[in-house]
Amino acid sequence: MTSKTTAIIDTDPGIDDAIAILYALRHPDLDIAAMTTVAGNIGLKVTTTNALRIATLAGVPTPVHSGAAAPLGRDPRPEIGIHGNDGLGGVTFPDPATGPASSYAVPYMVDALMTAPEKTIDLFCLAPLTNIATLMTMAPEALPRARRIIAMGGAVDEPGNMGRGEFNLAHDPEAAAMVLHAGLDLTLIPLDATRQFRAGADFLADLRATGKAAAVASADLIDAYFVQTEHQARGSVSRPLHDPCVPLFALHPDLFRIETRHLEVDHDGALIEGPHPIQVAMGVDADALRARLCEGLAC
Ligand code: BDR
Ligand code: CA
Repeated sequence: MTSKTTAIIDTDPGIDDAIAILYALRHPDLDIAAMTTVAGNIGLKVTTTNALRIATLAGVPTPVHSGAAAPLGRDPRPEIGIHGNDGLGGVTFPDPATGPASSYAVPYMVDALMTAPEKTIDLFCLAPLTNIATLMTMAPEALPRARRIIAMGGAVDEPGNMGRGEFNLAHDPEAAAMVLHAGLDLTLIPLDATRQFRAGADFLADLRATGKAAAVASADLIDAYFVQTEHQARGSVSRPLHDPCVPLFALHPDLFRIETRHLEVDHDGALIEGPHPIQVAMGVDADALRARLCEGLAC
């Protein structure tokens, strides 16, 4: 019997965040203690409501703690063109069964990390790293108590998707630099890996064939992603599944090829060569990951 992995999900749902959250909440080997939300794909109020709506659809009551409404010292730059005005591509989700938790994201994370035994909580980061950097400033002793940080973000050898950088790092470059330069136990899953993990018509059919709510909702989300990104996809018949790579890596690290690269985050939030050794996922076994994702969403 495997013991469960306990994690906090930091997120800005977000179409691909929603799929990652549904997978994580439904998976029997993961125990999601809470979600913390941040402004990113869309504003904080919507990301917080969306996290609650996703937990309600999953049927797994999960506290949601609202976090940073803007990057450190910059204005938010939502991705409405990709994720839609509701952040979920117009896909129908139930109204939230509960409201947000009374404590905010950073005080919650401090309390959780300081009271749980050391190195027992993972942080799954699916969004700009504003909450995590704020945690480092407010309670520097807390973050090193996490077991590990797994973050979707960055573009190493690949072109970016927000100027020279990738959205999660480029939305808040100052926060990204703080987190990536801190020497933490961090695995970064950049576009180099996530662009190899793609969904096409066969995968959508597999999800729908399960008949399970989380899998069917994920198929609807991917359909919406197809529509939203049609203008920039140049006829591509598949779309990348960025954020689901994070919980998948937590459970199936063998399906990712990890390299150590010496990097830093520049002023635009792009990754450039630098002094910091960082574990980055540069390759995936995409067929195996699709099978694991479909199985997990059908739990
Ligand atoms: C990342 O940016 C967001 O738009 C997605 O949710 C994902 O976290 C991909 O670059
Ligand atoms: Ca995200």
